[in-house]
Amino acid sequence: MPPSSADRATSDRTDSRATTVVTLQEKKARGERITALTAYDCPTARLLDAAGIDVLLVGDSLAMVVLGHETTLPVTMDDMLHHARAVARGAKRALLVGDMPFLSYQADTAEAVRNAGRLLQAGMHAVKLEGGRDLAPTVRALVGAGIPVMGHAGLLPQSVRQLGGFRPQARTAESARAVLDDALALEAAGAFAVVLESVPEKVAGAITERLQVPTIGIGAGPATDGQVLVIHDLLGLTEAVPRFVRRYARLGEEIVKAASAFRDDVESGRFPTSEHAPAMPEEESGAFLAALGPERPARGHGR
Ligand code: KIV
Repeated sequence: MPPSSADRATSDRTDSRATTVVTLQEKKARGERITALTAYDCPTARLLDAAGIDVLLVGDSLAMVVLGHETTLPVTMDDMLHHARAVARGAKRALLVGDMPFLSYQADTAEAVRNAGRLLQAGMHAVKLEGGRDLAPTVRALVGAGIPVMGHAGLLPQSVRQLGGFRPQARTAESARAVLDDALALEAAGAFAVVLESVPEKVAGAITERLQVPTIGIGAGPATDGQVLVIHDLLGLTEAVPRFVRRYARLGEEIVKAASAFRDDVESGRFPTSEHAPAMPEEESGAFLAALGPERPARGHGR
């Protein structure tokens, strides 16, 4: 059912049940862990919201898990806006974060502010972008424009061509220090939280201790303030998943089972039955068929 205008009103951040950037910071202060999952469509957003997930991220992983690309690079602002609007229609309580896609913020700061603003106009409450110290001026400009920013350090999937693959980061003392400096620069520039992707547990823990704002890990072990996963990985809808994923369901297998059962039923004539069409009074169907005259030879179902 589409949300009513009353439902939409409850998605306003003035709703006391709604999660805000402040809620996340309060959770960190209280030592409570933050939960985040990606969402790309309205029904999934509604379900994850009902499950009480704090943050729904319309991730640029959209490119890979929904649109079938090998990397996140091909996804566009228009793609992101389309899915951001769908998620905003489904969620009432979670904090909604829209990922800024490749080339929507790297080339120039004014363009970054305009594109981030478009994500907020599409119903997101905050944006996320990848990068560390180099991106600090952009983060500062977005925050200055009233746009909450989630940083993303460690493995930066939009730099996959430069990295030569989706490789774990910060495995030497020097590169670990660089990721810490990135996270500190993002916080100093005004980011309200920082995603740490694919970094060792000790590095993630050291960063988490040194940051006032929450860290949200993915492939970073248990020492962060929260955890994010790609929903398709968690539900078992993707074929290959990174080592750090835990699968909580095998929906891919369920979908194949359900579709095969449907195919068997249709091919064997078990579905649909007469119950699966609108009823028609006997006298009306009788009158209809009588008016058609004698039956013509059957033509079968070939198209
Ligand atoms: O796009 C995405 O799904 C992400 C998460 C992996 C953090 O950025």
